[in-house]
Amino acid sequence: MQFYLAPMEEVTGYVYRNVYHMLFDDVDKYFMPFIAPTKKRVLKTRDRKETAPENNQGVYAVPQILTNHAEQFLDTCDKLLELGYYEINLNLGCPSATVVRKAKGSGFLADTGRLDRFFEVIFRDMDKAKVSLKISVKTRIGLEFPEEFEDILKIFNRYPISEVIIHPRLQKDYYNNTPDLNVFSHALAQSVHPLCYNGDIFTKRQYDDFIEKFPTVERIMLGRGIVANPGLVREVKTGERISKEALKEYHDKLYAGYREALGSEKDALFKMKELWFYLGKSFTGAEKYLKKIRKANRPEEYASAVNGVFK
Ligand SMILES: Cc1cc2nc3c(=O)[nH]c(=O)nc-3n(C[C@H](O)[C@H](O)[C@H](O)COP(=O)(O)O)c2cc1C
Repeated sequence: MQFYLAPMEEVTGYVYRNVYHMLFDDVDKYFMPFIAPTKKRVLKTRDRKETAPENNQGVYAVPQILTNHAEQFLDTCDKLLELGYYEINLNLGCPSATVVRKAKGSGFLADTGRLDRFFEVIFRDMDKAKVSLKISVKTRIGLEFPEEFEDILKIFNRYPISEVIIHPRLQKDYYNNTPDLNVFSHALAQSVHPLCYNGDIFTKRQYDDFIEKFPTVERIMLGRGIVANPGLVREVKTGERISKEALKEYHDKLYAGYREALGSEKDALFKMKELWFYLGKSFTGAEKYLKKIRKANRPEEYASAVNGVFK
């Protein structure tokens, strides 16, 4: 099985990737949170930092692009190629209303004709320029109805996409309801590309159940499950559960990493609070201290609340 770390905006950026790689080193690919190209044709400061080779040493990182504009996609690919990336992912999953309104992310799935032309242009131009970039997609199954995926998959099947990562939810689901395993199963039978499954695997038990249902799947992407329990992949592979000490080290290294990268205690605290939204789920009976973490404004308050949780 190949394991991928999911892109999570503001969560699994380069600081996170480096800490995870240093402590756990058990995923095959790290997908970067999306880059949204603009007309200016330059990478934003944040995207430059995120993709800088010195911030991604030793990790197999895959940049992701969120656009519906073939030229902007190709332009960004050029810049990423220059930085040494040979695999790029297209975001067809983002459910956020502002993104969908612009027909990007999962919003791009609403117009299959446009999606078809987009792929036609990018693969034709890359072929002409003899660029050997792998282009993968990460997709939801539609906006409103699971039946939408039938046509979407037909389009993917027409192009040399390197892999299709499916998070089988609809745009309208956001993160509600459960992933639609029927649609995933159908896609498994119909896709000419390798498929990767993504969605709601938070425990070894859920992983085992999934694999029992889909024994032919060879790629799994995990997001919130890893952020909450960075020992998840090891547990799945070996049965060994993460220790409290290892979890504390993960926390401490991330906190130190954010302080250094952001140069601001306040910003680092904010980042850590976001992390706790997921990490908090790994603890039971700690609600009192988790609440203190949410309220902490000063590093001392935060440190004391964190100690409370770990105790
Ligand atoms: C806070 C947050 C940020 C996310 N950012 C991205 C993103 O930048 N690109 C993307 O393709 N998906 C993004 N996702 C979706 C995840 O990659 C993943 O598909 C989703 O969380 C389901 O997988 P999981 O159940 O393993 O977490 C994000 C999800 C969350 C919760």
